[in-house]
Amino acid sequence: MTTTFDVNAQTVGELAASMPLSIRVFEAWKIDYCCGGRTPLTDACTAAGKSVDAFIAELEALATIPDAAARDWSSDTLAATAARIVTTYHAYTREELQTITPIAAKVQSVHGERRPELAEVVSLVAELTTDLLPHMLKEEQVLFPYVDQLEEAANGKRVAPTPFFGTVKNPVRMMMIEHDRVGELLARLRVVTDDYTPPESDCFSYRELYRRLTDLELRTHEHIHVENNIYFPAAVALEDRAGQPNTFSDGCGHGCNH
Ligand SMILES: [Fe+2]
Ligand SMILES: [Fe+2]
Repeated sequence: MTTTFDVNAQTVGELAASMPLSIRVFEAWKIDYCCGGRTPLTDACTAAGKSVDAFIAELEALATIPDAAARDWSSDTLAATAARIVTTYHAYTREELQTITPIAAKVQSVHGERRPELAEVVSLVAELTTDLLPHMLKEEQVLFPYVDQLEEAANGKRVAPTPFFGTVKNPVRMMMIEHDRVGELLARLRVVTDDYTPPESDCFSYRELYRRLTDLELRTHEHIHVENNIYFPAAVALEDRAGQPNTFSDGCGHGCNH
């Protein structure tokens, strides 16, 4: 692979969106590309104790692995992206939190006396659940349907909707604040579990809990990235275009005034 773009001018969120493979490097180097997506790559590499050259080398090495490319979401319609977010990430998150909660409680009841950090793991999982379930519901019931309608209007299939929340920027802002909180909870989980390292123990549930939490962290980072760096900016741009005179409303579809 030849890297032809100027990485020094890119933010980590832009890179994650345009080159999904970069997500693997960001995860490995613990660079926050979802909630912290606006950080320039140069700053993120410096904070991680790495160089941009090393980043490019990692990316090029990954590109040589067959089928290593992660999904490119950028060419989908917004409706398709939202549908895929729901089936890929929301369904997984709901199921996984439901599975993890009793495992965490069980591990804490068995090992909690010798491992006091497990009490915080249990409460962090509970807080993640309390935050994420209504968050996803708001996206599914309010934000995504509005953006679907906006996209249909842009395609000339209907009149542009008037949302009760004024502009899409309001729910987007709220969702991003909630993403930040989820990012903080996941970061705290990583600290209290010592990077998800189970103690020397043959307890299957303990290892299973940490394996599932590691997976939940990765997929939630991806989930937030797809929304913060791909879906939300595209939705805001679409609404901005809809707000211009004669756009989406003249019926001829050419933007002319007749
Ligand atoms: Fe979501
Ligand atoms: Fe979200």
